[in-house]
Amino acid sequence: MRQSVLGFCLGFAALAAFSAVRSAAANGPAHAYVGAEKCKMCHNAAAKGAQFTKWTESKHSKAHAALASEEAKKVAAAKGIADPQKADECLRCHVSGHGAPAAKLTDKYKAQDGVSCESCHGPGGDYWKMDVMKDRAKSTAAGLVLPTEETCKRCHNADSPTFKGFDFQAMSAKIAHPNPQKAGK
Ligand code: HEC
Ligand code: HEC
Ligand code: HEC
Ligand code: HEC
Repeated sequence: MRQSVLGFCLGFAALAAFSAVRSAAANGPAHAYVGAEKCKMCHNAAAKGAQFTKWTESKHSKAHAALASEEAKKVAAAKGIADPQKADECLRCHVSGHGAPAAKLTDKYKAQDGVSCESCHGPGGDYWKMDVMKDRAKSTAAGLVLPTEETCKRCHNADSPTFKGFDFQAMSAKIAHPNPQKAGK
């Protein structure tokens, strides 16, 4: 009797866990991915910090392409992976929105963007419009993320096969794209 009650409880817990995972996978993230080109419309003026251009000059914008390099193929081969550009195990950190259901990827979304704005600032489907963006309370409520060290460490961690440590200050300086008009905000 005791055993069957225990069995029932374990079975129920497993079922509950399974349906929780399944519904998260079915619904995906709360907001849709719109792609870096959308952000470029308003975030590429030199006087305001040219965020889009700075990102295209950073390695993040090439993180999808990097998975086609000889080095990437070697790293993948050591794990029994033939094509890293097709492997979830690599794409999950090298491409924004990888694994999100099609309904959460708009027509401007491109895997080729690699680690795009939305990897750090959150999917923009509900915050990119001007009336929302210009009001920080509204934009953050609609999913805008002001990234912290924890945001970076979702990818810059020991699960990365080439990981050699992560110095938040030094690494942030390399990708900085502040708006000079908002200095001292
Ligand atoms: C229609 C124009 C427009 C689009 C498109 C747009 N933004 Fe903005 N964004 C603004 C304006 C206006 C502000 C407020 C002034 C500022 O901080 O530059 C802003 C502010 C921000 C801020 C700073 C928020 C704060 O309170 O410090 C971030 C980060 C940001 N946008 C990221 C993005 C990302 C990522 C995308 C694409 C998914 C995007 N924006 C698309 C207009 C836009
Ligand atoms: C947990 C996140 C994560 C996973 C999973 C991941 N990477 Fe990366 N990858 C990174 C980060 C972050 C960097 C940059 C810093 C570093 O090396 O840790 C990087 C850098 C690289 C580089 C160096 C690129 C260059 O420009 O020098 C290669 C090659 C690479 N990854 C290949 C792969 C392959 C192949 C896989 C799958 C087997 C993979 N990565 C899985 C996060 C990840
Ligand atoms: C690797 C992560 C990362 C990526 C990719 C990234 N950002 Fe940011 N962004 C940050 C961080 C960190 C800050 C500073 C947050 C703060 O000051 O609190 C920031 C700040 C900003 C700001 C506010 C600047 C200011 O001084 O007010 C804007 C606007 C912005 N990002 C837009 C973009 C756009 C547009 C893209 C893509 C073209 C992008 N970011 C890509 C991490 C990222
Ligand atoms: C979605 C995963 C992801 C997030 C989040 C992320 N990164 Fe990265 N980052 C990568 C990958 C992948 C690479 C390697 C790209 C390549 O080499 O092609 C990388 C490379 C870099 C590089 C270039 C390293 C070099 O050797 O020049 C810097 C700097 C960097 N990241 C800083 C940051 C900072 C700071 C944050 C947080 C504000 C951050 N990253 C958030 C995935 C991520």
